[in-house]
Amino acid sequence: MVEEFEKSKTRPQFHMPPPMDFPKEGAPEDEVLEAIKDLLGSNPYEIEKNFGISYVGPPHPIARRVSELAVGTFFVEWGRELQPGPYELEKQAVRMLVSLLGKPDAVGFITSGGTESNISALRLARNLSPSVSAPEVIMPESGHYSFRIGAEMLGIRLREAPLGPDILPDMNYVESLVNRNTVGLVCSAPGGAFMVIDPVEEFADLARRKGLFLHVDGAFGGFVLPFMRELGHDVPQFDFSLPSVSTMMTDGHKLGLMPVATGFFLVRDEEMLQAIPTERTVIHNVTATKHGERAATAWAVMRRLGRKGYVESTRHVLEVVDFIVKGIERIDGLRMVAKPSITLVSFTSDTCDVRKVHEGMLQRGWGHTYGTVSGIEYIRLSVHPHRDLEHAAGFLEALEDSVRAARG
Ligand SMILES: Cc1ncc(COP(=O)(O)O)c(C=O)c1O
Repeated sequence: MVEEFEKSKTRPQFHMPPPMDFPKEGAPEDEVLEAIKDLLGSNPYEIEKNFGISYVGPPHPIARRVSELAVGTFFVEWGRELQPGPYELEKQAVRMLVSLLGKPDAVGFITSGGTESNISALRLARNLSPSVSAPEVIMPESGHYSFRIGAEMLGIRLREAPLGPDILPDMNYVESLVNRNTVGLVCSAPGGAFMVIDPVEEFADLARRKGLFLHVDGAFGGFVLPFMRELGHDVPQFDFSLPSVSTMMTDGHKLGLMPVATGFFLVRDEEMLQAIPTERTVIHNVTATKHGERAATAWAVMRRLGRKGYVESTRHVLEVVDFIVKGIERIDGLRMVAKPSITLVSFTSDTCDVRKVHEGMLQRGWGHTYGTVSGIEYIRLSVHPHRDLEHAAGFLEALEDSVRAARG
C-alpha cells in the first residue's frame, strides 16, 4: 500500500511465495475450500476499514446473483456466434453508459479495468496517425501510470506536462509540446492521485484547433460526475458532449458498484475502429475472451439502479466525503492537498511526518494508500458507496490519534 502512484525512485518489492510443486493428486474438496478461505481471509484490513484504491467494497448485491447465473459464460468478439448473449449484454451495457456520457451512438468494449482501457486508447491514437513514425502523446504529469505502460509497449513517447500548485497543467506549456509527431492528448476527469479534474474543455479546444485525438480518463468520474450534475453540482463538461473528445474510459469497479475487473473503453465513432488492423488481429481491442459475468453484472447493476439509484449512491458517498474532509481540516497540522472533486480524499502535513501518520494508520488497522506525486507526500482515501458516517468517524478518530503519536 505504499508509493503506488509515484514514478518511484526505488523498485517496488516483487513478491513471490517459495517454490511450490504442482500437486501430484487432487485434494478433497473441503480441504481446498478451507485453504482458499484462509488465504482469502488473510487481508490485514477489514473491508470496512480499507480505504484502498479500487472498489474494495462489495459490489451491488445483484452482481452476486447475476454472477451465479453467468457461470461458464464468456464473450469474445471473434466468437460472438458461440455465445451471443454475453456479447449482447456487453454491447448493451456500453450503449447505456455512452448515453450517459454524451454520445448514445458511441461504441466500445468492456475491459479488465482502467489500465487496459488506457492502453487501448493509446493504441487507437497511434494507429489513427499511421504516417507518424515517432509518435508522441501529451498528458499532465498527474495522468495514471497505465499511460506510461502503454507508451512503453506501443513505442510512443509520452510527454508529461508538470503540474502547478493547483495540481493542474499549464495549458500553454501543454500546447508548446504539440509538434508534428503528436498523435494525441490525454487528460483525466478526475486524476486518480488528487481527484482534480483536468481542464478537459481546454484540452478539447486544443484538440480541435490542432486536429488531435483526445482521450479522457474518467476512471472515477464516469460513474459519478453525470449524477453529481443531477444533484445540482456545477460539473464542467468532460465527456463526449465535447465534440473533440475521441475516446473515454471509466471503471465500473470503481464507483459503478460493479465487480472488480469491469472497465469500459468507449470510442466516439465506430469509424475510428477502422484504424485497428483486424485482418491480422481478429478483434478490435487488446484482450480477447472475458468472463460473461463481467458483461452480465455490468448490465444488471445499471439496469437495477438506473439513474435514480446512482444519484442516490452519489449523494450518499459525497456526504461521507464531506464529513471526512471536514474532520481532516479540524485536525491540527493536516491539510487537504486539493479540494476533492469527487470521492478521493488526499491530505498531507507541513508540520508532522506523513509517513509516520501513514504507518500509524496501518497499525491501527486502517487501509489506505500513501505516496508522493509531484513532490507532494500524501495519504489518500478512496471513499466508496458502502461506507457510512460511522466508518468515517472511526477513521477520523484513528487519524487524530496517529497524528498525535507521529508528533511524539
Ligand atoms: C485515474 C485512473 N485511471 C486508471 C486507473 C487504472 O485502473 P485499473 O486499476 O482498473 O487498471 C486508475 C486506478 O486507480 C486511476 O485512478
